[in-house]
Amino acid sequence: MRFPGAHVLSVSQFERSDVERIFEVADSMRPYAHRERMTKVLDGAIMGNMFFEPSTRTRVSFGCAFNLLGGEVRETTDIKASSLTKGESLYDTGRVMSGYSDIIVMRHPQAGSVAEFAKASRVPVLNAGDGPNEHPSQALLDLYTIKKELKSRQQNIDGMHIAMIGDLKHGRTVHSLSRLVSLYSKVKFTLISPRELAMPEAIVEDLRTRGHQVVETEDMESGLISNDIVYLTRIQEERFASKPEADLYRGRFRLNQSIYTQYCQPNTVIMHPLPRDSREEANELDNDLNQHPSLAIFRQTDNGVLVRMALFALTLDVCEQVDKSSREV
Ligand code: CP
Repeated sequence: MRFPGAHVLSVSQFERSDVERIFEVADSMRPYAHRERMTKVLDGAIMGNMFFEPSTRTRVSFGCAFNLLGGEVRETTDIKASSLTKGESLYDTGRVMSGYSDIIVMRHPQAGSVAEFAKASRVPVLNAGDGPNEHPSQALLDLYTIKKELKSRQQNIDGMHIAMIGDLKHGRTVHSLSRLVSLYSKVKFTLISPRELAMPEAIVEDLRTRGHQVVETEDMESGLISNDIVYLTRIQEERFASKPEADLYRGRFRLNQSIYTQYCQPNTVIMHPLPRDSREEANELDNDLNQHPSLAIFRQTDNGVLVRMALFALTLDVCEQVDKSSREV
């Protein structure tokens, strides 16, 4: 794809070479993210950070990434404080807000909403999660983390075994991550979920069509055996009609030290997009694994800054200028 000026709405936009390019730029951002160097490459630029659903890491890491490149961030974080509640369309909102920003990051509860907004925008729009549909930047940071974790074990994404566990029906991170991983070859996916919360059929079919092996199961213990990566997700309560309906599934699949030791092969990388639901009735990823060297969840969150810096640099076409407008700290 051609990055300069592009919207990033879905991982379906990417070829494998695009993903590798994003990772290459993300690697080059490390000295800036670690405050070893400073750049002002986006000095004077404004990012509109529009979050109409709760967020901790996506909103803040997109903001940090833009600040680390020298730009300013304008936050819109409450749908009730926006004229969308007066009946204004996403199209009009997109047209207006793109007059105030050089790039917009947006999260919204409806599938397809960010794409609708982007149709009217005169500046690039990055999808930070549109309902249960997609979360492209999360999938990129997840795959970037997978690549790094596997490399430290002399392994590759091609041929890896990954288990995805939890609410695979509503989890936009697993939708985007599966599609992104499908660009690689001969991956084995073990999809562990209650039958009612299975991965959408269209995604499973697509994985099989691209030559990947897919096993779907409700049995976590057998599904955990012989994976390189286990990727857990929480029950997405906000996508259910009611809390009691979500409660039916909460706590069904839990990973803790004892289960990990018993069923996972040693060194299996443990991932989660976060937030994990640490309430007793859910607790899909137990705190007793917090010190485990294979727990990669906080390496994922750190890598989010690098990947989001790369997305800004590529879509605003400043990759070549980052180093030129920099100095040592
Ligand atoms: N992973 C993720 O999207 O986290 P937030 O909802 O906190 O942004």
